[in-house]
Order: sequence, then structure tokens, then C-alpha cells
Amino acid sequence: MEELDAMIANNHATLVEQDSRQLHPMYHPTRTENAAMVERGDGVWLYTTDGKKILDSMASLWNVNIGYGNRELAQVAYEQMLDIAYSSGFAGMTNPPSAQLADKLAGFFRPNMNFTNFTSGGSESSDTSFKTARYYWYLRGKAGKTKIISRVNGYHGMTLAATSATGMSKFHSAFGGVLDGFAHVPNPNPYRYEGDRREGESVAQAAARALEEAILREGPETVAAFISEPIQGAGGVMIADDGYFDLVQAICKRYEVLFIVDEVICGFGRTGNWFGSDAFGINPDIMQFAKGVTSGYMPLGGIQVTDEIRDVINGAPEEQSWMHGYTYSGHATACAVGLANIEIIERDGLLENSQRMGARLLNGLQALVEEFPVIDNARGLGLMAAFDVVMSKESREPDAKLAEAISEAALEMGLRARPIAEAIAFAPPLCITAGEVDFLINTMGDAITQARG
Ligand SMILES: Cc1ncc(COP(=O)(O)O)c(C=O)c1O
Repeated sequence: MEELDAMIANNHATLVEQDSRQLHPMYHPTRTENAAMVERGDGVWLYTTDGKKILDSMASLWNVNIGYGNRELAQVAYEQMLDIAYSSGFAGMTNPPSAQLADKLAGFFRPNMNFTNFTSGGSESSDTSFKTARYYWYLRGKAGKTKIISRVNGYHGMTLAATSATGMSKFHSAFGGVLDGFAHVPNPNPYRYEGDRREGESVAQAAARALEEAILREGPETVAAFISEPIQGAGGVMIADDGYFDLVQAICKRYEVLFIVDEVICGFGRTGNWFGSDAFGINPDIMQFAKGVTSGYMPLGGIQVTDEIRDVINGAPEEQSWMHGYTYSGHATACAVGLANIEIIERDGLLENSQRMGARLLNGLQALVEEFPVIDNARGLGLMAAFDVVMSKESREPDAKLAEAISEAALEMGLRARPIAEAIAFAPPLCITAGEVDFLINTMGDAITQARG
């Protein structure tokens, strides 16, 4: 037994040493020195090379929707790879899985959206949306409409254009700032609104007015699109009040600004509907997705456009073709896995589970708000939820240090819960059971007690 323990410890130490050669996302050496070396997963559980078992309440990066360790997807990928793992989508070539997935997705989100372009992830999808918006206006004879407006605390990815749309300055300062042609407007955070608000105005109205003012300031003839997540994810699970999206959609229409909805986190069951837009009456011109489309089993993303935009694209003269695409656009194995993943979400009733377990989770988070003076603002939709960690409920002042300490204590107790800004967010796999939700809530309670002590 001792020998086995020594072997395991040795293997873990070797891997940690090897991992030190890797420049991880959002890198700082202090951040990765204790990284969990995950070697296996099953449902909501992760197992590490140093023998830990952890309930992953973030489904990795909000994306492992069907849960870890699914063998059906492994089989689909295996069989697809035996046939044709990958072939180009450029230059007159295509493949059956990408055709079948495009067909499955036709009308799946909205009846008037039947045309999909595939990417390998969310950031590529953001760039693809922005370029497609610009291209659309170019073909419509309005080539000056190129600017992109997004929201403070919105997260749209990390390529140069996606970073510029991302509304968090910590991602800009060290990388040359925001590209020309990108502007940010306040987000309609009902708990902590940071824009200006006139007397009698709701947060939703004030934030919508801020968008209209930004469009007028920039000049409507220069603005191509406005991009927004249905619920801000990385910005702290911010849910706008009812009415906000009606107002901003009307403003976009008024000034001929395309509305891009970013469903990268919210899509494919996360919020208890197929898409986050469903709960807010969002009918965009462009919809972008990634993450949950394959539950993370293969890298895949994409955008969908309305039939109106498709018709404009299809009507372009050949010398003005949509000159955009990636080597892995329509990757055969990724698309085969995506198709099977959607079928599993349907077959296993994961939307219903997301609704039922989401309600249980939110109840539990609300009980924590009642129990602890430093926990406030529990909110959620389906299995996308959070609470804020604050100095006090009166001041609402964020306590990021305590949030960090709570998260560390929880991890020691076998629960991965991610502090983002002043919040701790929860987005477990959609297959989570009632017992696992209860473990999550109870552990959270213990972790808060320990961190405060
Ligand atoms: C809403 C949203 N859009 C885009 C992205 C970027 O996706 P990726 O990291 O796959 O490039 C993310 C990633 O978290 C996201 O949350």
C-alpha cells in the first residue's frame, strides 16, 4: 500500500513538473502552482492524480453540459475518426457530419435562422460574427458601418477582436488597449448599476438609454452591431431585469444596428431552455455558440444568421465572396460529436433536469443568503447561478478576498466553485442529481463558515 501511495505521489510530482513548461490561460506562476491535475471524470465528479475527488460545480468552463466520462461521445468520435477524422471545408470540399449538424441546427434556435458557419470555439465565433456583420453592411452599400458596441463586463473571448468586445479592462491594459471601432456601454446590473440613472428610470431603461446614446455618439452610420450575452457569465452571472432586451432590440432596429446574441455559455441547456435567449424574447440577427454544443468533448463553435442575412450573402457577386473561415471550420469529428451531444441532451431530458435542479440550487443559495450576513444577491436561471460575497448587505461592497477564501475552503472539502469578480458562480453539468446539489449547498455553507472564521 505504501509503495502504491509513493508511486502515485511520484507520478503526480512528475506531471506537476512537466506542467510547469506550459503557459496556461490567464497565466501567472502563482496561479498554476497548485493546479488540480485532473485525470478522469464521471458525471459531475473529477478525479485528480493526487487522489482527490471533486464535485465540479462549474462544469469546467460552464461547458461540460452532459457531464464527464460519457462513453457514447467517445464511441462517436472513434467511429468518425476511423471514417474521416477531418477534411477541409474550404475549396469545394465538405463532409457528412458538418452537413448533418448544419441541418439539425437549421431552425433549431429560431425559425428564421437556418444558415450556420462552424468555428472551433467562442472567440472565433465572436470574430466571425463581427466580420459577418461588417460584410453584410458592405454588401448593402453601407461599408462605413463597422463598429461593434458591447457591454461592460461582457465576455466574448480572447482573440484581438473578441478581447476588444470583452468589457473588462484587466484584459486590455497590457495588450495595447481596445482596438479602434469597439465601444462599451454599461451593463444593466440590477444589484449594482454603474451607469448614470435619471430619476424615475429603471436600471433596464437607463442601460438601454446608454446604448442609444452610444450609437448616436459614434454615429449610427458607423455602427455595425451590438453584442450581448443573454446572461453575463464571466462578468458575474448578471441577469437583466425584464424589459431590457425589448428596449435594446428596438433601439438596434431603429438605428440599423445588427443585434448579435452570444449564446456561448447560455446555449444548449445551461439555462433550462435550449438557449438563454428563450427566456428574454431575444430574436437576434446573428447568434453565436460554442461550449455546450459538444459539452466540451471536442472544440466546436459557430454562428447562425437570419434568412435575410443569408440571402444577402448568397446574392453577393463572386468577387465579393465572404472571405472568412478557419482550417477547422466544419471539423468532421467535432460536428459528429456535436450532433450526438444534442441528441443526448434531448433523449436524457437534460433541459428539464436543468430547470428542476436549477430551482433546487437557487433555493439552497437563497438559504445561504439568509444564513450569512456576507452573502447576498442569489440569482440564477436553470443551472447558471451565483451569489455575491459582500462586506455587508447594506453597503453591497464586494469582498473579493473572502470570495477567494471561500472558494479555497470549498476545494479542500471536495467542491470546485469559482470566484468571479465579487461573485461565486455555479454552473454544474446538467446531469447533476438532487443529492449532489445538496452536497454542493451544504459544502458551500461549511466553506463560508470556515473562511469567515
Ligand atoms: C459568452 C462567451 N463568449 C465567448 C467566449 C469565448 O469562448 P472560447 O474561450 O471558446 O474562445 C466565452 C468563453 O468563456 C464566453 O463565455
